[in-house]
Amino acid sequence: MRERVVVLDFGGQYNQLIARRVREAGVYSELITHDAPIERIKGESLSAIIMTGGPDSAYEEGAKACDNAVFSLGVPVLGICYGMQYIAKVFGGAIASAPIREYGHTKIRFTDHPLFTGMGDVVWMNHNDSVTRAPEGFAAIASTCACPVAAFADEERKVYGIQFHAEVTHTQNGQKLFENFLKSVCNLKCDYSAANLKDELIASIRAQVGDKRVIGALSGGVDSSVASVLVHEAVGAQMTCIFVDHGLLRENEADDVMRVYHDTLSLNIIKVDARERFLSKLAGITEPEQKRKIIGEEFIRVFEEESKKLGGAEYLLQGTIYPDVIESGTSSASTIKSHHNVGGLPKDIGFVGLVEPLRMLFKDEVRALGESLGIPHELVWRQPFPGPGLAIRVLGDVTEDKLAILRRSDAIFREEVKTAGLSEAIWQYFTVFTGMRTVGVMGDLRTYDYIIGVRAVTSTDAMTVEWAEIPYSVLRRISERIIGEVPHVNRVVYDITSKPPGTIEWE
Ligand code: XMP
Repeated sequence: MRERVVVLDFGGQYNQLIARRVREAGVYSELITHDAPIERIKGESLSAIIMTGGPDSAYEEGAKACDNAVFSLGVPVLGICYGMQYIAKVFGGAIASAPIREYGHTKIRFTDHPLFTGMGDVVWMNHNDSVTRAPEGFAAIASTCACPVAAFADEERKVYGIQFHAEVTHTQNGQKLFENFLKSVCNLKCDYSAANLKDELIASIRAQVGDKRVIGALSGGVDSSVASVLVHEAVGAQMTCIFVDHGLLRENEADDVMRVYHDTLSLNIIKVDARERFLSKLAGITEPEQKRKIIGEEFIRVFEEESKKLGGAEYLLQGTIYPDVIESGTSSASTIKSHHNVGGLPKDIGFVGLVEPLRMLFKDEVRALGESLGIPHELVWRQPFPGPGLAIRVLGDVTEDKLAILRRSDAIFREEVKTAGLSEAIWQYFTVFTGMRTVGVMGDLRTYDYIIGVRAVTSTDAMTVEWAEIPYSVLRRISERIIGEVPHVNRVVYDITSKPPGTIEWE
């Protein structure tokens, strides 16, 4: 029986990270909403439960709760932040709001409890409330200046709580805490790895599809590529892929993508040239969300038409990954950007069913699986590219002239990042057409031309990012080349905003 950890979601921002950390530690995990029925939590197997952080205050009316039968299932429970406070409330401890919010890097004193073996003494805190008295039977096992019970443990019931966020990279060796919990406290084997899922996934695609036909939208991204190769291995010529060139791709991208899919991966793929259609629909549109909506809708129209031409198919392949599944299931998080996933076609466009082989996998797992399927390294490690493409990197209305400037500057930037050997150290890097013009001087003459923004970030999941510390010498060369080689650009700026408070894309 597969080891399985349920991460009970109490609505915090970093809940997916917890589920990922558990998988990185070698145990399959599922993120399940806090009020899920106990049968759903128990599933076919259950090894441990982790309760996440969340925005509520434990004593307030309507504070999120779970079925407290989870404490009697005979598996260890670990609460993080709000999860810890919830445990304190259930078992009769005391919680109070601190006069000053504890936020950011915080010095901590650990006891020699096995949960903390190998961790550093700096953790990431982000809370108003904290446990002021541990419940009966619980011992305090860590403290900070502001927080006397920064972690607690009840060894008898195997229930634990930590106030800090071990899941974020700001906590020194936070990953150790998850390994310790799963190995030392739960005594699990920790032998799960996405790279070993290939045969299982292929078998379940065959079982689902049988002798029916599958149609898939390929975006050139990692997810849809890995999904297509899996289905191709499972049912071969029963699948046809469609690649829509919406005219918002990077320099040479359409040709490059087609070459890899057709020549290297031998996929049955058709390219649709829809460049004019998209650009005319976007003419004069400046609002980012409206651009996304138009592109999403037009994509569906093109796809419908093309699949009709092919005579239809019973199944639709989607490169949905676990974060998409989780995010579409949560209504409480506010919409920052309505991410149109190119693979995200509606179900009601005439298919019997969806094939979503990656729906339980995180991005890094998709990559590991992709490598184990023999997909070229360059494709597996391609940086993410948004579905609406360059339309959200041209600020304001999109025109072919602006796209041409953006494409060239972006290609130069990418060349230089590659030359500097930084491609895989940086999560995402691109240029932005700002639409703003400034005065400059070139060859003794006044210029009044556009500013190009350069954006590069490091991350592991796109949820939180740091701006990348590209060496000055590389930045200098990028700036010189863009201004020297791209007409109508006379200034280059580097974006030094992390996320939060910024986002990766500018729109
Ligand atoms: P932000 O800008 O929200 O982006 O920090 C996080 C990640 O999502 C990508 N992104 C999108 N992907 N459709 C997509 O398929 C979209 O509308 C979209 N907007 C942003 C972005 O490139 C980054 O990887």
